[in-house]
Amino acid sequence: MSAQPREFLSVTDNRTGKVYELPIADGCIKALDLRQIKVSADDFGLMTYDPAYMNTASCKSRITFIDGDKGILRYRGYPIDQLAEKSRYLEVAYLILNGELPNQAQYDVWADEITHHTMVHENVKDLMAGFRYDAHPMGMLVSTIGALSTFYPEAKHVHDPVIRQKQVFRLIAKIPTLAAFAYRHSQGLPYVYPENHLSYAGNFLHMMFKIGDYKVNPILERAMDVLFTLHADHEQNCSTSAMRAIGSSAVDPYSAAAGAVGALYGPLHGGANEAVLRMLAEIGSKDKIPAFLKEVKESGGDVKLMGFGHRVYKNYDPRAKIIKELADQVFEVTGRNRLLDIALELEKIALSDEYFLKRKLYPNVDFYSGLIYQAMKFPVDMYPVLFAIGRMSGWLAQWQEMVEDKDQKITRPRQVYLGEGERTFVPMNARK
Ligand code: CMC
Repeated sequence: MSAQPREFLSVTDNRTGKVYELPIADGCIKALDLRQIKVSADDFGLMTYDPAYMNTASCKSRITFIDGDKGILRYRGYPIDQLAEKSRYLEVAYLILNGELPNQAQYDVWADEITHHTMVHENVKDLMAGFRYDAHPMGMLVSTIGALSTFYPEAKHVHDPVIRQKQVFRLIAKIPTLAAFAYRHSQGLPYVYPENHLSYAGNFLHMMFKIGDYKVNPILERAMDVLFTLHADHEQNCSTSAMRAIGSSAVDPYSAAAGAVGALYGPLHGGANEAVLRMLAEIGSKDKIPAFLKEVKESGGDVKLMGFGHRVYKNYDPRAKIIKELADQVFEVTGRNRLLDIALELEKIALSDEYFLKRKLYPNVDFYSGLIYQAMKFPVDMYPVLFAIGRMSGWLAQWQEMVEDKDQKITRPRQVYLGEGERTFVPMNARK
């Protein structure tokens, strides 16, 4: 058998005239291969400058595939629309974490383990009681997820697969409980404990909304489940990169996940669904849309059409398509959200506007999800929390992949130093 021809990138350094051959593998050159490119023996060597990692692969992953130009999203090879239609969130979480869809026996064990880890230590309630009545639930989630590391100190043994698995069960199981408790705290309502006979999504709705003889509506339960599936993973996004970066120090997964929730909190990431709703409410009526879009276009990037645009998708976000269809089913139960008309008109006008077309700005996952959440009676503050519940399985899968990846080390980017050269300390009384 003849050896495969190896692919190289030939680079000529115009400073020295030297030619280098950099191997290409999986469509990448290794950034470290650039370091041999020097002008002198004591030169540090060439680096790449890539703020926001626009063109840097930080890992090799087998979990999620996105083709942003074609609007494709697959978990472990399965298209997102098939999973959303035919699967359930817990099954998808198993798939993301284990690489294959579970058979019935595997699923039963998995679902049973998660169901039996939904309870949180009673001390967590005391911790929550310390927050102000109007504390943002994402802030509460960051803190309480981080605090879980103090309840499970063995979690620091991140290289032990059995211990790791236990924390995976706990984090997926407990995040809905923490989320629901945060909401009940903000309402001054007593906390509702998890019910093991309910589904993952059903149990969450129960813990959120149970007052009197509340019964989970099966259509809303299904919608919640689909929304968790749609948010489960999205490869190396901001919060997942945070999870990997924090986890790369070999800290326990609760501390890493707390950081990931913090990253998700921002309005450019998971906080966008909250921002969309506030934006639609502020626009208020269809006739105000042209004036709002004019403001967006003339603001030089300061005012954004929230829920539009994506670093990776330069086409319709496939999740937004599914959510738009789901909205109709939810509104059959809850009644139509009046902001939907503004959203639909906004999308129509934006998608025929030169500004948005030229920049390939399309609705993303957050454009319609908030409308469903609002119709289901979630307060706006809770929207990013709902995103975090679904994303926990993805964070953990990516963290696990990172821990097992022999190529990975502690995350530590380089910088281009542009500050002062060495100077001599000036005492306070001699300073200008
Ligand atoms: N409204 C108006 N203009 C926009 C928008 C928008 N939503 N998004 C991008 N642009 C413009 C931007 O000003 C820039 O214009 P110019 O070329 O004239 O300077 C151009 O489009 C390219 O944008 P960019 O800022 O280079 O794109 P990015 O990849 O850095 O940002 C983004 C991606 C998602 C942060 C951005 O599109 C955005 O802020 N969108 C609104 C917030 C949002 O909906 N976020 C949810 C993302 S999906 C869920 C998730 O992953 O959390």
